Amino acid sequence: MATKKLWGGRFQEQAAAWVDAFGASISFDQLMAEEDIEGSLAHVKMLQKTGIVPVDDCDQIIAGLEGIQQDLEKGQIKFDVENEDIHMNIESILTDRIGPVAGKLHTARSRNDQVATDFHLYLKKRLPKVIDEITTVQKTLIDLAEKNVETIMPGYTHLQHAQPISYGHYLMAYYQMFKRDKERFAFNEVHTDISPLGAAALAGTTFPIDRQMTAKTLGFSKVYANSLDAVSDRDFALEFLSNSSILMMHLSRFCEELSMWVSHEFQYLELSDAYTTGSSIMPQKKNPDMAELIRGKSGRVYGHLMGLLATMKSLPLAYNKDLQEDKEGVFDTVKTLLPALKVFNGMLSTITVKADNMKQATENDFSNATELADYLATKGVPFREAHGIVGQLVLKGIQTHQNLQDMSLAELQAASPKIEADVYHDLKSEVAVERRHSEGGTGFDQVRKQIEQAKRDLSESGDKSD
Ligand code: ARG
Repeated sequence: MATKKLWGGRFQEQAAAWVDAFGASISFDQLMAEEDIEGSLAHVKMLQKTGIVPVDDCDQIIAGLEGIQQDLEKGQIKFDVENEDIHMNIESILTDRIGPVAGKLHTARSRNDQVATDFHLYLKKRLPKVIDEITTVQKTLIDLAEKNVETIMPGYTHLQHAQPISYGHYLMAYYQMFKRDKERFAFNEVHTDISPLGAAALAGTTFPIDRQMTAKTLGFSKVYANSLDAVSDRDFALEFLSNSSILMMHLSRFCEELSMWVSHEFQYLELSDAYTTGSSIMPQKKNPDMAELIRGKSGRVYGHLMGLLATMKSLPLAYNKDLQEDKEGVFDTVKTLLPALKVFNGMLSTITVKADNMKQATENDFSNATELADYLATKGVPFREAHGIVGQLVLKGIQTHQNLQDMSLAELQAASPKIEADVYHDLKSEVAVERRHSEGGTGFDQVRKQIEQAKRDLSESGDKSD
């Protein structure tokens, strides 16, 4: 038998329990219990200060809410599906504790601005954690890059050996992606740091509320300028899902390469036992499960972005119950992202780099072909012509099973008389990497420069947050 609803005045019939259960959100929005109480405390303090609700009544409400807050921390609060969502659960618990005066809390407020406030607060608290975890990963990348400036590996295009690069350079490419991720989340913070409280149902209120006061109490920098926008906007959540999707995509790309590079065919890297698993049947197996799972989990985060975009599409202003679907994807994304970053960082900081294997892979291929073309170009051969000459030599090498550096000077000179004995120096992969001094290139000096700049960036952003 369903109990009377907080909003039940105009209803004569009651919904069946299973219909109520369909409409309820308490199973998941209880995650915002802390934020809901914070929002209510800010609201009632404002009602008190503005004289909208008598001081004594407000004192009782404040004491009641603080009591619930403490019990919540102790895990002593039980929620119930008949009270539909977190907002009505807290209000009903408050009513049980302090009686009908609890009913004054909802003066000049609607669940529409209440839920939006809770959701903003929820995300506002979590965004710095995401940014911090990304910074941790960036630091690990810098450490590893610093140790591997002169580690030579094949650089790929089309998954084919292209030109040799520094492994440190490769790692710093990911540093840059994570830098952009952080910038996106920082912008996301700006759009999350706005208070919807006081928009009421959709149109504002006739009570002389003070929105600046509630915003300040809750730590918001400003208030929504338009009450319809305040209760309808979920852009901040979409931005979070979109930023998270891009971040997961970065993690996933790295994990994909990691999974390949620990395989028998590559053996460029080895993962610590602590981040791998064995097989129940094949005793030799050491599977990069964690890397695969991070790659796999990017799918669910993309799904949450698509889900909320689809929910929002065509939603008329202002509040519609569809908006209740905004939360689970965001909660799950937070639950996915933070551990994914943590595991990723653990994996990265315990990785073994098999530098010899990486280098060897650049010596048994034609990834120094560009070097030879460049060599000829510096000797005055037009680059296009040089490209053709080297192409012929590569073809010959394929047919005779030898690499460019294995060919005799006579063989090389047969292709171009401009080639001299100093060519063998240029054909070394470490020389090919070391000499790429162009800005942002893989030359050792350039990689070191990137690392130094990255360290400065991180210490500057650290200073700002102090
Ligand atoms: N549980 C609802 C949600 O998550 C709270 C807002 C309900 N507002 C309303 N007018 N029914 O969206």
